[in-house]
Amino acid sequence: MKKLLTLLLLFNLSTAFGKWTTIRNGILWTDTDGNTVQAHAPGFVYLDGRWYMVGEDRANAFHPDVNLYSSPDLVNWKFERKIIQNGVTTPRLGRSRMIERAKLLYNEATQKFVVWCHYESGNYAASEAACFESDSIAGTYRLIWSGRPMGIKSRDCNVFQDTDGTTYFVSTTEENQHLGLFLLSEDYHETVAHTQLLPYQRREAPVIVHVGERYFMFSSACTGWAPNQCKVCHSNSLTQGWSPLENIGDETAFRTQAAAILTIRGTKQTTYLYVGDRWMDPTLPESKIIIFPITFQDDQCQFHYCEQFDIDFRTGRWRITK
Ligand code: DGJ
Repeated sequence: MKKLLTLLLLFNLSTAFGKWTTIRNGILWTDTDGNTVQAHAPGFVYLDGRWYMVGEDRANAFHPDVNLYSSPDLVNWKFERKIIQNGVTTPRLGRSRMIERAKLLYNEATQKFVVWCHYESGNYAASEAACFESDSIAGTYRLIWSGRPMGIKSRDCNVFQDTDGTTYFVSTTEENQHLGLFLLSEDYHETVAHTQLLPYQRREAPVIVHVGERYFMFSSACTGWAPNQCKVCHSNSLTQGWSPLENIGDETAFRTQAAAILTIRGTKQTTYLYVGDRWMDPTLPESKIIIFPITFQDDQCQFHYCEQFDIDFRTGRWRITK
């Protein structure tokens, strides 16, 4: 009887207080096989209760492959497979390309998985992107296309899937001068419309998130692997009306460069998590992935950088613990 009461009490406590997952920053992630996680500049898709993460495998630092991992909680990562093997998935283009900022999309209409990435040559002169597709998330990805989107030189990149399903490729264009917002075709294979954003602002590592009525865009200056001030701007429309850039966080974005913002729709609140790369920590393969909560209020937002925080993925609640 006593045992039963204790069990009931524990059950009630866990339902009342939820299940906390602790996320620690600054440590090298290892996967469930004990190997170092290699998924730099990551992109994410949430599917059937799991986070899928693609990113640069920089074990062979300068000519990355692309790895896929999955996790129920952003902490315990299972290595799924290497989805792009530099020069093997793309024999026509050889092994000398730099595959950077791979981002994953699920296309509900075609039920395919699509990866867009920066597909660069040694001196960053190619300024190209590439698109890959697979029938299943951990299946075989084949090259669909590579080149300059709509003929425009394109480097650092990201993807953005809006709440209405409209999907974009976003990249730093024309020798790092502007950002380009490229509407993707329904199958996500092609860029079909281009809007120039932030002309001559020289921003890279763009990340867009849709919060209520507004879009927020985060970006960094172009300083190679060295971190710099993250800036944010906002607009009610993706194609026009972006506010002037404003500083956010400290002067080095807490030694990170933005890669993604994750939206956790919990039963009690929606929580946004900033995901960034702490490059060269101290080497390129040992660069860390850093995660922390970010809050939005009207047209303002705030980074809540911390060494450690707990999150309850069911309720969406979080608390800083270090
Ligand atoms: C900064 C970019 O954001 C990275 O993706 C990478 O291209 C480095 N520059 C290379 O210096």
